[in-house]
Amino acid sequence: MLKIGVLLSRVRVEERWLFEALEKRGLPYDRLDDRDLVFDLRCPDPWRPYGVVLERSISFGRGLAALHILNAWGIPTVNTAQVAETCGDKLATSAALQAGGVPQPRVRVAFTVESALAAIEEMGYPVVLKPVVGSWGRLVTKLNDRDAAEAVLEHREVLGSYYHQIYYLQEYISKPGRDIRAYVVGGRTVAASYRSSKHWITNTARGGAGSNCPVTPELEAVCLAAARAVGGGVLAVDVLEDPDRGYLVNEVNHTMEFHSSVPATGIDIPGFVVEYTAAQMLPA
Ligand SMILES: Nc1ncnc2c1ncn2[C@@H]1O[C@H](COP(=O)(O)OP(=O)(O)O)[C@@H](O)[C@H]1O
Ligand SMILES: [Mg+2]
Repeated sequence: MLKIGVLLSRVRVEERWLFEALEKRGLPYDRLDDRDLVFDLRCPDPWRPYGVVLERSISFGRGLAALHILNAWGIPTVNTAQVAETCGDKLATSAALQAGGVPQPRVRVAFTVESALAAIEEMGYPVVLKPVVGSWGRLVTKLNDRDAAEAVLEHREVLGSYYHQIYYLQEYISKPGRDIRAYVVGGRTVAASYRSSKHWITNTARGGAGSNCPVTPELEAVCLAAARAVGGGVLAVDVLEDPDRGYLVNEVNHTMEFHSSVPATGIDIPGFVVEYTAAQMLPA
């Protein structure tokens, strides 16, 4: 019988719950620690026991590299390399959302300090500047005036790496002290939670508190459109509520955390993830 490979870096609460969900369903699985792996590209044999691999790496780069190799060998993964590539990069995500006609905040991209400053001035303050690759709200920056914009752009140029010179700018959405994180598994929005905070950055990793958010047909439609636009799978969609335009999709996450949303919603998110993963399994 083929097994499920769970590719991970560290066992967080999420992974512990995923293992429990696998065990409860009697699904055989192995933990595959990305720190120990060596792939021989000519030799997929050690991976043949796996009918599907669930990718839970903490590192975007490691996870994506492994997904590329596995998919090239014909091993299904949750999510696919193509989806990880899109979702791990905010600019690629925004481009995919735009192509899919999904409502999102206005985004500008520039490559030099001068052109970024011109774009910011044109957009009007406040503007949000983000690294294209990142999570947990790290380096997500609100620029309230020209002084702040000049300072941050200079820091990025002098201290940052190549990635920090891709200036991804988003209009600031005056949301009601919270945003929405919705969980899409396959073709369904299985749960959603509000993340509320006094700070404008509402990530749970930054102290945002979770509470249940009803999945209305309107929310579901936006989330499914976002998931479809990036290629589908198991995804967490960050949604901002704009006072005039309603739901705007901020980003889509492909290796989502859900430790605060399970207690907040009472929904068995790991159960849905495991069942979807098992359904992607190669035939024995
Ligand atoms: N354009 C924006 N307007 C208002 N709030 C934002 C905006 N962009 C990000 N935020 C807030 O900052 C948080 C982190 O930004 P996000 O783009 O999701 O980056 P990360 O990948 O680090 O989670 C969001 O969950 C939201 O609360
Ligand atoms: Mg986010």
